[in-house]
Amino acid sequence: MPQTENVFEVAYRASRDYMDNLNSRPIIPSSETLQALKTFKEPMPKFGQNASAVIQQLHEAGSPNTVATTGGRFYGFVVGGALPVAVAANWLATTWDQNAGTWVLSPIAGDLEDIAGRWMLELLDLPRDAVFGFVTGATMATFSSIASARSALLRRRGYDVKRSGLGGAPRMRIIMSEEIHPTNKAALGYAGFGLDQIEYVAVDKEGRIKPDELPELDDLSIVLVQAGNINSGSFDNFQAVTKKAKQAGAWVHVDGAFGLWARASKNKRHLTQGMELADSWSVDGHKWLNLPHESAIYFCRDAQAVDDVFGISATYLVRDENRQGNNFTPELSRRARGVEFWAALKFLGKEGIAEIVDQSCTHAEHFAEGLKNIGLSVLNDVVLNQIVFSAGSEDMTRLVLKEIQNTGTLWLGPTTWQGQFAMRISVSSVATTEADVEASLVAIKTAFLAAREAV
Ligand SMILES: Cc1ncc(COP(=O)(O)O)c(C=O)c1O
Repeated sequence: MPQTENVFEVAYRASRDYMDNLNSRPIIPSSETLQALKTFKEPMPKFGQNASAVIQQLHEAGSPNTVATTGGRFYGFVVGGALPVAVAANWLATTWDQNAGTWVLSPIAGDLEDIAGRWMLELLDLPRDAVFGFVTGATMATFSSIASARSALLRRRGYDVKRSGLGGAPRMRIIMSEEIHPTNKAALGYAGFGLDQIEYVAVDKEGRIKPDELPELDDLSIVLVQAGNINSGSFDNFQAVTKKAKQAGAWVHVDGAFGLWARASKNKRHLTQGMELADSWSVDGHKWLNLPHESAIYFCRDAQAVDDVFGISATYLVRDENRQGNNFTPELSRRARGVEFWAALKFLGKEGIAEIVDQSCTHAEHFAEGLKNIGLSVLNDVVLNQIVFSAGSEDMTRLVLKEIQNTGTLWLGPTTWQGQFAMRISVSSVATTEADVEASLVAIKTAFLAAREAV
């Protein structure tokens, strides 16, 4: 690679090459391509290297060792793809290298965050005066919400947790189901709550909280509910939970890492009924909105609580009438996450976002139908974009899963659902087409037949 070549040109060509060939390569790296990772295991160079050569090595040895999660046939976890417009906005924003913490450091980053956050409140029809923060992922969005909840409920009891700490605080209660995503427990821990403090509520066969089994709530209770069970895609009954919580002065947080987007679709919105009555909400941009990773947002009704937790002041920090991004997030310095949020929302519009949700859910229905036709058992009510299925016994299901991964056509993950070992599909990439679903079903059928023959 010549020394004079522009490193950005090399990165651009590598990126184009990556995107253009995504669908013709295996979804996960083969054992041969993994060998190329050895090229990185070298001693730290004494002298610097040519910049273009560094990027070229990344592409040659790195690109084949990525997992094709931005393609149309990756159905593991819930990761989402990457909208080209969002990737491009991310590139430009990275080139700007703006610090989005303070408006004076980046008027464009500050304003776009403000606009994107308000657009999101309108799109999701949440209280328009809620405040919001742009964070790395749903885990941090939930942490930010819980820290705010803790502050608000204790303040209402006359206790200033920021000043006095949790040690002498009135004991708070945490109420949730075992079915809520495990990152909620992590977020609770970051906010100073222990696992033994959690009061678990029983769930139904789809993993939804049973509202009748909620314990008596009070004004020191934080109830966590979810929009989108990681396996079944089911939604808790927000209407019933928020009604009880409001009466008791409790706080309700909604983990809607992917499910909150259902509110943008008129076909799926009924699942979210009553959600608007909650106190805080978290949602990932890097899942169903298909933003590049490290993009999430949380919303909170109680602006003072958020400011109590995250507000920072120092004589050198210039404050003016504009929104100061760092007063809503755990970090002071951070990248301009609002830029790609804004770009994707503008590119898609309300209709485009609804279309992404509807399209994924239609694909999920086709998957469920196709799986049943093959002779596999679908174990959940397919209400959203998630499917849990099995091939019967655990051994057989494991074998089929192995055969499916061996086809290289698609990738999906294992899970345990209602005590049963199962496979799961999440359709959350904008790149997935009907042809991808068809090709995946053909591969699953081949894998199933191969597994049956092998036993
Ligand atoms: C329901 C739910 N909550 C929280 C998370 C954690 O999100 P993140 O990895 O963005 O922190 C996930 C991730 O899949 C999720 O599905």
